[in-house]
Amino acid sequence: MDAITVLHHRVSQSKLASPAPDREQLDILIRAATRAADHGNLQPWRFLVIEGVGLEKLGELFARVAAEKKPDISQAELDRFKSMPLRAPMIIVAIAKCQVHPKIPKVEQLIAAGAAAQNILTASFALGLGAIWRTGDMAYDGAIKQALGLVSNEALDEQIVGFIYIGSPTGSTHLPRAINPSAFFTTWTGE
Ligand SMILES: Cc1cc2nc3c(=O)[nH]c(=O)nc-3n(C[C@H](O)[C@H](O)[C@H](O)COP(=O)(O)O)c2cc1C
Repeated sequence: MDAITVLHHRVSQSKLASPAPDREQLDILIRAATRAADHGNLQPWRFLVIEGVGLEKLGELFARVAAEKKPDISQAELDRFKSMPLRAPMIIVAIAKCQVHPKIPKVEQLIAAGAAAQNILTASFALGLGAIWRTGDMAYDGAIKQALGLVSNEALDEQIVGFIYIGSPTGSTHLPRAINPSAFFTTWTGE
């Protein structure tokens, strides 16, 4: 597929099975991520790759945090949290590294990391992999961020921009949402 076809047709895939991307594919994804537009070349991102037992541990972490927040949580809810990361054979946690900078505000660094995450989705689609960007409460929870090793201090504020679930697509791939691109473009002439 050429680049424009990929950009026009990329869709998310929530039904994902093994195999996970191999090392060569993972390298392509990370290289694509790090080509995102980046004001000041700050490279305000890093990525955690989680597979196998790591996914189980992430599920346990989600369940532990959910139980701390809601002591009367049901077993069914706990099981749901535990199994969340098992919906794909690989998760890439995309992290924004927002530093205090005299010229480049944190929001621009967050956007750059988001662009890097989108590049992972696009490159996954181009490779015939399936991927979906997920967040939810767990992405913004302090205990989760701490357990994943994110740093937050006066100089550096790390944020999870997404849990990118990646694997081999199973089942049917949905069609891109019908949109009317021209609805989003107007001309401004300054008149
Ligand atoms: C920042 C961000 C967070 C998202 N979080 C979730 C999520 O937690 N759960 C979910 O089902 N979709 C989430 N999505 C949306 C999906 O990734 C996907 O884009 C959406 O379902 C539309 O499908 P499409 O990408 O095939 O057009 C998120 C998207 C973005 C950009």
